[in-house]
Amino acid sequence: MESSIAGSFENGVVLITGSTGFLGKMLTEKLLRCCPVNTIAILVRGKKGLSASQRVEDIYKQTLFDRLRSEKPDFTESIRIIDGHLEESSMGLSSSDREWLIENVNFVFHCAATIKFNEPLELASKINIQGTENVMKLASQMKNLKGFVHVSTAYSHCPRSVIKEEFYNVPITAKELKNVFFDEESCLKVMEDWPNTYTFTKAITENMILTNGNHLPISIFRPSIIGCTKSEPEPGWLENMNGPTGLVTGVMVGFLRTVPNIGSNITDIIPADYTVNALISVMWDTVNRHKQSNGVPLEEPKIYNYVSCVESPLTWGRYIREMHDQYYVAPPLQSMWYGFYIFYTNLMVGSILRFFLHRIPGAFMDLMLILCGKSPKMLRMYKKTENMIDLLYDFSTKQWTFDNSNSRELWSLLSKDDREMFRFSLDDFDWKSYIKSYYYGIRRHVLHEDLSNVEKATSKNRQYDIMIVIMVALVVYGTNYFCRATFLLDAYI
Ligand SMILES: NC(=O)c1ccc[n+]([C@@H]2O[C@H](COP(=O)([O-])OP(=O)(O)OC[C@H]3O[C@@H](n4cnc5c(N)ncnc54)[C@H](OP(=O)(O)O)[C@@H]3O)[C@@H](O)[C@H]2O)c1
Repeated sequence: MESSIAGSFENGVVLITGSTGFLGKMLTEKLLRCCPVNTIAILVRGKKGLSASQRVEDIYKQTLFDRLRSEKPDFTESIRIIDGHLEESSMGLSSSDREWLIENVNFVFHCAATIKFNEPLELASKINIQGTENVMKLASQMKNLKGFVHVSTAYSHCPRSVIKEEFYNVPITAKELKNVFFDEESCLKVMEDWPNTYTFTKAITENMILTNGNHLPISIFRPSIIGCTKSEPEPGWLENMNGPTGLVTGVMVGFLRTVPNIGSNITDIIPADYTVNALISVMWDTVNRHKQSNGVPLEEPKIYNYVSCVESPLTWGRYIREMHDQYYVAPPLQSMWYGFYIFYTNLMVGSILRFFLHRIPGAFMDLMLILCGKSPKMLRMYKKTENMIDLLYDFSTKQWTFDNSNSRELWSLLSKDDREMFRFSLDDFDWKSYIKSYYYGIRRHVLHEDLSNVEKATSKNRQYDIMIVIMVALVVYGTNYFCRATFLLDAYI
């Protein structure tokens, strides 16, 4: 197969930041499997008592790399670990690593970021804004740099309702933000209409890229919500509980029993493998555009919105309903209760439902844990999960109109072979089979259950079903009994 995108990486040296994260891992896998790169340098920080190399060793044992391992057993020889922290001055790089990067790197994919919505503004600014500035500074010294792609998010300008592939004004510049005193009041004031520090710092970073005088061959890639893979390296691969995945997992295991009614709203999920393909294609386009400009700096970095709502919109209702269809076929064995949910539209009603369906059973289970000599955890887990749902609420209830012309134009430039190898168009996307893979992906990779336990899990679920019928019958009988007793008492008095 002749692929000009893969060919553009021939013998190239690629630097990936965030390579231990969800997107970065998938990007590393795809580049190593499908592109003739010479070396992939990955920026990794030591964490939780493990050094950068110890962490990397564990990562490449994961199932995500099974296919690569069988196709290229010696793939780790093409990986060079660079120990560093984004936000530190000089990124905490050793001088030999720094020199090597400056001499050798041709392509930079900057994926690293803190994606916690509620990260304190000071830390989010250090990692997302200062960290990007540090990577760009390093890139500006690279002697053979051909392209740089910064990964932002489609929601960086979420206070707007129409989001084009454009730079927008921000309330404060990256430079000004450095002088802000990060107490709670100033943070709220400075963030203006942004609902969280994640999207806010991503917006400021985009502005910093626009105004930074480094004249790098740079583009900005803005994906929406990255879901599991569609097909590569296997269908349904995922590893985190972010966003819609967390919500569905909570319902699947019978933990969440009430969720906001957002059924007719769009959930802008994009498959992880398609996202990686789009990201690699953006790098190819960036390199070509800068090559064609013969070294004359282009006016503005190009922005690519990568979303599904334009070509193949998916509603929350369909997503949850079709997940539930699979639940009846293969419920998880570790479920703590029958997987059902009651929608609420009114927040007050939501609080009441949470009290009865989460807090009371949670308190009861905590009591059981204490009686068994274990530490209570259920109420704490409910508090954390409900906070997450509240943080997501903005994203679930608000609807945006996205323009993705640049991404669609990019797709039109791909050759037939490239379209096969780097498929990312979401025209007529088959959500039905994707949601099915998503369900089994959560079951396998998040809940760590394989299909051998389906019979046992279905039988356990039937028992829950019978218990619910008995409980409902008792409640109806009890209410009836109470009403009759009150009536008789009234008549007697
Ligand atoms: N996931 C989504 O749905 C989504 C949607 C839109 C955009 N994005 C963007 O895609 C990119 C990757 O997201 P993701 O989902 O892969 O996130 P992730 O799984 O949380 O990965 C984040 C990566 O950044 C690294 N990192 C964070 N702080 C760092 C620091 N101070 N120094 C060095 N490395 C640091 C993390 O390293 P450690 O392993 O050491 O923590 C990890 O490798 C982000 O820029 C995000 O904004 C993601």
